Amino acid sequence: MERTLVLLKPDAVQRRLMGRIISRIEEKGLKVVAMKMMRITRELAERHYAEHREKPFFGTLVEFITSGPIVALVVEGPRAIEVMRTMMGKTNPLEAAPGTIRGDYGLSITMNLIHGSDSQKTAAREIPIFFAPEEILDYDITDQRWFGG
Ligand code: RTP
Ligand code: MG
Repeated sequence: MERTLVLLKPDAVQRRLMGRIISRIEEKGLKVVAMKMMRITRELAERHYAEHREKPFFGTLVEFITSGPIVALVVEGPRAIEVMRTMMGKTNPLEAAPGTIRGDYGLSITMNLIHGSDSQKTAAREIPIFFAPEEILDYDITDQRWFGG
């Protein structure tokens, strides 16, 4: 069982796609164990995307991710990190397959709707940036076994 950090980026909120994206996560059988709507500060954005600090797109990325409210979630399930990345599709929505979130809803590499941790190490670093331990809920869903989770 794994946990991953998911962010619905400002474009997902502005385009009223929060519900649709969260529905996809739920319908897949993954479990939301933490969720909040928030505004990312510049400091938080720079910490979260620290690995990209030297990249040419870093300024644009920080401007965008701080430009409006986002939704942060911790999502749990078997191989949840990889499963979420597959559901998200390629970073550039122009290359993302139909059926993926970015493939179905996006055209912009900056406004690509969703973030998901890309490895176990990344998830372990990112989740505590957004959530205190007591904000992550341990609970059972009664039909969980029918999803293999
Ligand atoms: P994310 O971290 O947001 O989940 O996206 P990702 O893993 O698919 O992509 P990553 O390489 O981590 O890049 C982080 C975000 O930076 C923006 N980006 N712009 N202009 C560009 O060439 C470029 N490359 C990346 C994207 O918004 C990407 O989500
Ligand atoms: Mg990334």
